[in-house]
Amino acid sequence: MVTLKSKAEIKEMRKAGQIVAAFHRGVADLIRPGLTTLDIEAFAVRFLKENGARAYTMGYNGYPFATCASVNDVIAHGFPNRKPLKEGDIVKIDIVAEKDGWIGDSAWCYAVGKVSEEARRLMQVTKECLYRGIEKAVVGNRIGDVMHAVQSHAEQSGYSVVRDLLGHGVGRELHEEPNYMHIGTPGKGFRLKEGMVFTIEPMLNAGKPFMTVDADGWTARTADGSLSAQYEHTIALTADGPMILTAQ
Ligand code: MF3
Ligand code: CO
Repeated sequence: MVTLKSKAEIKEMRKAGQIVAAFHRGVADLIRPGLTTLDIEAFAVRFLKENGARAYTMGYNGYPFATCASVNDVIAHGFPNRKPLKEGDIVKIDIVAEKDGWIGDSAWCYAVGKVSEEARRLMQVTKECLYRGIEKAVVGNRIGDVMHAVQSHAEQSGYSVVRDLLGHGVGRELHEEPNYMHIGTPGKGFRLKEGMVFTIEPMLNAGKPFMTVDADGWTARTADGSLSAQYEHTIALTADGPMILTAQ
């Protein structure tokens, strides 16, 4: 069941979103060669606590951390670790905060030092896919309109869209209905209604769209070892258009 949120509830959800956004601004300042993803995890734990928010993913389906840290060919759900980030890496940091019972969810891709032209372009196109999707996230459109905008830009740019991990409704829980891939056909799929809150979180691979999961049961990688990028926002659909709850 899709739960529609009132204006007052969306205002509450914005608080969770803004904590997530502020965390990402902090990460952008911290990121540099030599930093470890466990350093970022420690910052996240402290930052959420200071802001009266709960680290929602800690213990969620057994996930052991407040952040996901996914380097280079890791698509998503990587565990933070003590390996120093090195110049040229790209790292996706994903965080979910719960504030006053409401969830905010956003992942962002960071360049570590100077990265290759190839990595820079993959990041750029992935971010453009996110915002092209958001533009189409208006009441009356269908999810296929949103995801067609994402998919066509990705594929015209020579990249593939990961199918195995889905976007999702967000509210008092992280994963609410609906769920959908980041591919689509205009005019198809569920209709977008005022009060829907959901993520747009395209994952683009430089190579094929296929994914494998490590023995830890979480770390999702590109099957062909190619680079992967992701940007994710939590969006609320208002009569005035899409509101980015996790806008930095
Ligand atoms: N932001 C991710 C999502 O879209 C994070 C969830 S993975 C988890 O669902 F296991 F850590 F929760
Ligand atoms: Co998400």
